[in-house]
Order: sequence, then structure tokens, then C-alpha cells
Amino acid sequence: MNIDVDKYYGLISPRPTVCISTVDSDGNSNLAPYSFLTPLSFNPPLIVIGVGEGKDTIVNARDIGDFVVTPLTEDWMVEGIKTGESLPHGESEFDLAGLNTKSSEKIKSPSVAEAAVNIECEYYGEYEIGDHLLLVGEVVNITANEDAVKNDRIALEKYGAVGHISGEEFAVARDITEIERN
Ligand SMILES: Cc1cc2nc3c(=O)[nH]c(=O)nc-3n(C[C@H](O)[C@H](O)[C@H](O)COP(=O)(O)O)c2cc1C
Repeated sequence: MNIDVDKYYGLISPRPTVCISTVDSDGNSNLAPYSFLTPLSFNPPLIVIGVGEGKDTIVNARDIGDFVVTPLTEDWMVEGIKTGESLPHGESEFDLAGLNTKSSEKIKSPSVAEAAVNIECEYYGEYEIGDHLLLVGEVVNITANEDAVKNDRIALEKYGAVGHISGEEFAVARDITEIERN
């Protein structure tokens, strides 16, 4: 069989899913889910997200100079996905979804109180590519619940990392298989 090439991204799934938190110059917080993302570099520690042009996330990250990446886990997945609703600029998806902000340690954008892990990033740059912009952030600080990290990964056994499959389908990762590597 052949599959429409414009459906390619649905085959790269489940895609790790995060919410990105930002703040605008008036102090309004913003939160939205993103799944076109990947770690990009060890040194400096860079993360890249494909963001549709004009979205509040990239406008705020550009203006303020930072953003927070929060891996979505099972305990707040419904609320996290709800933040994908499009609200007028300045209205907070935190309030819409019933989520709470907490101060980040090194940047202005707020962390998500409910998230087990908050990855604080400084805006590193943005690059036009196709119909998306690559938003690149340099990780400058990470805060995590004591029980949220095991062997330098999210403690899947406890939290269950969420991946986007397609449309309204999501996967929760709990199984871990070890494969010997030379
Ligand atoms: C699970 C999920 C993943 C998403 N991933 C992306 C993505 O990687 N890039 C993107 O531009 N929009 C993505 N979206 C859509 C944005 O979340 C949506 O357009 C949102 O309203 C943008 O909010 P903002 O304007 O506050 O940044 C995704 C939505 C969902 C529900």
C-alpha cells in the first residue's frame, strides 16, 4: 500500500508530547501542547520545537527570551491537552485547563505546578523551515519532583509519559525493555 506523503508525521508516533509555558510582556501566562520536538545538541544542551507561525508560544519566547518545556505525564494529560484550545492573545490556557503556574528558578516564563519535570530554556534562536519555525531553546535549569526521575529519565513506572499518536489518540508509556548495546 501507499500512504499520502502529507500523512507522514502520523507514522512517527507516538511523539513525545510536552506543554510549553511562556509569558508575554504584559505578564500574561500562556501554555500549549507541542509534539514536533526533539533534543538537538549535548553541548550546549539544545532542544528544538516545530511551531506554526504566529502562535503565542513563539511570539512570547521571542519577546521575553525564554520558555519552559514540560513533558506531559498521565496525571495531568487531560488538562495538558486542553491547553491546545486556541484562545485570544493574553487569555491564559492555565486558567482554561485548571492548571497552576509556579515561579521558575532561572527564567521569567512560569513553570507548571502540576508537571513532574520543568525544563527551563533560554531562547536560542528560530529558523524558518517549510511552513513551521524551528524554535530552539538552550536548557539552563531543570526542576523535578524527587520521585519523577529514575536513571536520568522520567520515572515511567510512576508517571507514564504521554505521546501523541494522531488526532485524539494518545499513548501512555509505562513498559521498559532493555536491549544490549555494544
Ligand atoms: C497533542 C498536540 C500536539 C501539538 N503539537 C504541535 C506542534 O508540535 N507544533 C505546533 O505548531 N502546534 C502543535 N499543536 C497545536 C497547538 O498546541 C495549538 O495550535 C495551540 O493553540 C497553540 O497555542 P499557542 O498559540 O498558545 O502557542 C499541538 C496540539 C496538540 C493537542
